[in-house]
Amino acid sequence: MPRVNSTDELEKIRKEILSRRDPNQPCISICAGAGCLASGASEVIAAFKEEIEKQGLKTDVNTKGTGCPGFCERGPVVVIYPEETCYLQVKPEDVPEILSQTIKEKKVVNRLLYIDPTTGEKATHESDIPFYKNQVRNIICNNSKIDSKSIDDYLAIDGYSALAKVLTGMTPEEVLEEVKKSNLRGRGGGGFPAGRKWEGSRNAPEKIKYVIVNADEGDPGAFMDRALLEGNPHSILEGLIIGGYAIGSQEGYIYVRQEYPLAVENITLAIQRAEEYGFLGKNILGSGFDFTVKVHQGAGAFVCGESTALMTALEGRAGEPRPKYIRSNIVGLWGRPSVLNNVETWANVPLIINKGADWFTQFGTEGSKGTKIFSLVGKITNTGLVEVPMGITLRDIIYKIGGGIPGGKKFKAVQTGGPSGGCIPEELLDLQVGFDELTQAGSMMGSGGMIVLDEDTCMVDVSRYFINFLTDESCGKCVPCREGLRQMHKILTNITKGKGKEGDIALLEELSETAIEAALCALGKSAPNPFLSTLRYFRDEYEAHIKEKRCPALSCKELIAYHIDPAKCQACMICLKKCPAEAIGGGKNKIHVVEQEKCTKCGTCFEVCPPRFAAVQKISGEPVPSPIPEEERIIIRKSKEK
Ligand SMILES: Cc1cc2nc3c(=O)[nH]c(=O)nc-3n(C[C@H](O)[C@H](O)[C@H](O)COP(=O)(O)O)c2cc1C
Ligand code: FES
Repeated sequence: MPRVNSTDELEKIRKEILSRRDPNQPCISICAGAGCLASGASEVIAAFKEEIEKQGLKTDVNTKGTGCPGFCERGPVVVIYPEETCYLQVKPEDVPEILSQTIKEKKVVNRLLYIDPTTGEKATHESDIPFYKNQVRNIICNNSKIDSKSIDDYLAIDGYSALAKVLTGMTPEEVLEEVKKSNLRGRGGGGFPAGRKWEGSRNAPEKIKYVIVNADEGDPGAFMDRALLEGNPHSILEGLIIGGYAIGSQEGYIYVRQEYPLAVENITLAIQRAEEYGFLGKNILGSGFDFTVKVHQGAGAFVCGESTALMTALEGRAGEPRPKYIRSNIVGLWGRPSVLNNVETWANVPLIINKGADWFTQFGTEGSKGTKIFSLVGKITNTGLVEVPMGITLRDIIYKIGGGIPGGKKFKAVQTGGPSGGCIPEELLDLQVGFDELTQAGSMMGSGGMIVLDEDTCMVDVSRYFINFLTDESCGKCVPCREGLRQMHKILTNITKGKGKEGDIALLEELSETAIEAALCALGKSAPNPFLSTLRYFRDEYEAHIKEKRCPALSCKELIAYHIDPAKCQACMICLKKCPAEAIGGGKNKIHVVEQEKCTKCGTCFEVCPPRFAAVQKISGEPVPSPIPEEERIIIRKSKEK
């Protein structure tokens, strides 16, 4: 492919690519994102290739392995364009029918469509599925339209037109003004305005400056950045080059964790293609602007996502944070002005340039503009990636998009903001999602993790879990974080084991205050959030654990017991046979009894007891009833009575 030397040449190439494509020709998009690959997408892709050949459709149909469109719960996802027919949980054996029916006969294969669990209605098109219908998919929408390995696919959807617009028609100051006007706030954690950060670097006197993509994505359960890098790597690259132009930088870095091999592969390939086409390198599009990008694979420590630790790791040293007396946009990588932004922040830049700041600010609230991608996981019917306008309520995300809580359970809380975020209770479900709103509620936006918790979740244990994660991930450089978190974890563990003492809550509050005040970096400063937010909304659960040795959610193993109600037991033998610890006494026609000294509290008996009997009970904070005497345990069956 010849180098593209000017905007005119770019438009000529774009026209030529489009002229080779017939918009009415069927195109089968098969999600090749990590979630669908895990559910067998590779086999589905192979089956399509084989069957297309077999059915003689090679010249009539295109296939594409695309990035993740978000509905990973129902993968492998297949969308057939131009009709946008969406098939879910597709298996290799479905492929012949899809080709013979949908491609040849233009008929829909009904059994592969989405079925609304409440109304039973089927949705043929992607945009009719409630999961998608209630989203605003400005950024992620292209993931299912392009083959992430093809630069031509990116060019066909207007790719690199924002770069061309900037390099040929805007000064760096004008680009900066547009980004400032959009009020784009960083999507990686703190929500700092991108324009202000860029301006600081631009105005810094140093000649050499850097722009960096933060693709460390260390939050457990989060995969927004991974999906963007895997699915649409050129959009991030384009944003980064524009950022470089705006601040006067000629060097960019992509810091991506090495546990994301597909993201590394796709962004590396995107850089190679962009170099071949001349979107990277010297004299880009004949503008005189030079820019290069390198990929750096991080070893995968959570703290390396923190700006100063990331830059230290990029310099080849151990990824530990440093105090931010001077911000890294002024003194950053190798002591030079460095703009670090999150993957999603960069992905917004080409859209803002192409569509304008006014378009961008129509989405969102006063303080939080645009859309945000969340990874919706936990006790929720539709897990996956969702892109929503800022200002949407938590209720709409959880119920309209997420489909509510499975198994008829009650919603308890939603944990947002990653491990150092907080838990938001049911009474705040109508809270609008925005940077400031979530912080005021004691949580934070973070990079977009959203974990839904149901009534069976113990909030003290949730707090213990996240503090444990942060204790493990602390780099150990400062005492309040290294020692303080360790102590917090010890106290919380004791509470969940029924060894909590009067005064523990006050001690945890004191340790939290010290970490917030004195920790070196934001890991330590924000680490007490899981404790403080659960204490704020669920103090009664802490008190029940400490004072009554009771876990209200019936979750903490040391505080619960299983017991079989003799009046309900039908001696059906199911729990007795399934108990892995052989802790159920009794027998045929003989009421069963949990032998407490053998019970490991695995809960198998509770799960397998037929709901019509509901004889196994989980109790907490009360003594286990004494077993009935041996001679009274015989059940006399009615049929035998006759
Ligand atoms: C412990 C810790 C981990 C972080 N991890 C990430 C991360 O994985 N990805 C990210 O973009 N930002 C992460 N951040 C936030 C970064 O420090 C930084 O604020 C961000 O990358 C700036 O980009 P933004 O303004 O576009 O959000 C982390 C912060 C802390 C304190
Ligand atoms: S990986 Fe396929 S829908 Fe997410």
